[in-house]
Amino acid sequence: MQSPSQLPSDLPPDKLAFVDRALAERQQTQRWRSLQSITPLDAVQVLKNGRKLLNFSSNDYLGLSKHPALIAAAQDYTARYGTGSTASRLVTGTYDIHQQLEEKLAIACGRQAALLFNSGFQANVSLLASLLDARSLVLCDRLVHNSLIQGILASQARFMRYAHNDLAHLEKLLHQAKDYSRVVIVTETVFSMDGDRSDVSALVDLAQTHNAILYLDDAHALGVLGEVGMGLAAHQTGADVVVGTFGKAFGAFGAFVTCSHKLKDYFVNCCGGFIYTTALPPAVIGAIAAALELMPTLELERQHLTQSAAYLRTQLNLLGYDTAGSNSQIVPLLVGDEAKTLRLCQGLEESGILAIAIRPPTVAPGTSRIRLALSSQHQQADLDRLVDAIQRHE
Ligand SMILES: Cc1ncc(COP(=O)(O)O)c(C=O)c1O
Repeated sequence: MQSPSQLPSDLPPDKLAFVDRALAERQQTQRWRSLQSITPLDAVQVLKNGRKLLNFSSNDYLGLSKHPALIAAAQDYTARYGTGSTASRLVTGTYDIHQQLEEKLAIACGRQAALLFNSGFQANVSLLASLLDARSLVLCDRLVHNSLIQGILASQARFMRYAHNDLAHLEKLLHQAKDYSRVVIVTETVFSMDGDRSDVSALVDLAQTHNAILYLDDAHALGVLGEVGMGLAAHQTGADVVVGTFGKAFGAFGAFVTCSHKLKDYFVNCCGGFIYTTALPPAVIGAIAAALELMPTLELERQHLTQSAAYLRTQLNLLGYDTAGSNSQIVPLLVGDEAKTLRLCQGLEESGILAIAIRPPTVAPGTSRIRLALSSQHQQADLDRLVDAIQRHE
């Protein structure tokens, strides 16, 4: 028999009640997210629930994730080195292929040194945490990626955001910055959700004038923009820390930072996200190395991608859609209202188009959008099909 003290009303409170509250809140505010499985068919087509869809939401900007050279290199490196790198880099996880790739990346980007990371998220969180302390000041663009914010928060540094791409605002904040251990400017070169660009040389000048450290995330420019596609921060000597990712235009996985030899030594010794994790596996290193080898040969693909994005923006603007400040392969179709954005996304799917809705908290309230990400493999007919479907489901 239960004693009175064991009656249900005396049970301890539900320790996971916060989970119910968070999930209920997501549902009530139309912000519920769930995983949707697809099967890739080629660079731009996928199979979803047995239906073929044209994909406008992948970051495979050059279609390299299905390129025979990357697949062959991943297989070859696996055959030669195995499936895993078996240890962290400072233990026995640095193979010759890791070091050779870092040397080639540094040369291709026109920078002193390069260091591999297991993902862009991991790089941003841990690089920033290692660069900052509680007495540092971070000035970051209002629209930077969540991984950068997480790194800043982890450091406990003082943190102020400047208005998006507003370098006059940044300069004003730099003038006011006094008595900090160091000042770090953090921004992206191509913004992941708006597809617009930073003025990298103006940022370099500002950082130099104010003796600030400049940290640039080049994730969406790498492979697509800059000299031989190596990003908008390549060959920029005044950019102290530049992060690139391989999960997007490089069609693979992982990330890297380019910096001075001295900073590389510092990260190897002091950056937890580099030190305490198993090194990237041989298959991934092979795919990245093959993509890097291909980069100088993809100029026509990059031109086609740029032209496709310009064409799509023109068509959407003619329909009256706002495409924010996009001037890259990322073209946001701003809808505003969350429910309306979801309805458009569902309508497009019915018409055979996969184009994912991006809603708060990923973007600011009232700026829900369909983030259209183009690939060099999309043809004019694909773009016309997309525009036609958007028009039908407005
Ligand atoms: C600007 C930016 N930085 C970093 C990342 C994270 O890179 P990764 O996917 O390699 O973790 C992303 C997107 O995923 C991004 O858009």
